[in-house]
Amino acid sequence: MRILVINGPNMNLLGSRQPEIYGSATLADIEANLVASFPDVDFAFIQSNYEGAIIDAIQTTDADAIVLNAAAYTHTSLAIADAVAAVDTPVIEVHLSNIYAREEIRRRSLIAPVCRGSICGFGPKVYELAVAACL
Ligand code: DQA
Repeated sequence: MRILVINGPNMNLLGSRQPEIYGSATLADIEANLVASFPDVDFAFIQSNYEGAIIDAIQTTDADAIVLNAAAYTHTSLAIADAVAAVDTPVIEVHLSNIYAREEIRRRSLIAPVCRGSICGFGPKVYELAVAACL
């Protein structure tokens, strides 16, 4: 099982970025934890602050599934939603925070309707839950 984990804009700042919302784990911590927790999964990890790079990754992956935290693009990017809809690879949407308990603009995900499922609000555990859902 090959799983591509994609993180969008500002996720490279996890650990120092609004820790009261996103916690203290860095993206490297989250990725290392996945590798340690799922030794049989072949992971690839991409983080990009650029919408087009995320779309390219969705279009070109040969992974069996994608775990996607599109970060703020979740709420704005029809282009990423279109990319998810265009590929056969199942995509699981994740968010560290509970986007439905936050500001109004964060309560709408343009990506959720085209994803296989969505998991949010459980901090770094959302990545583990998403991977477990792929197996
Ligand atoms: C986020 C939630 C988004 O609203 C926000 O823009 C992020 C992170 C999360 O993981 O909780 O950058 O996707």
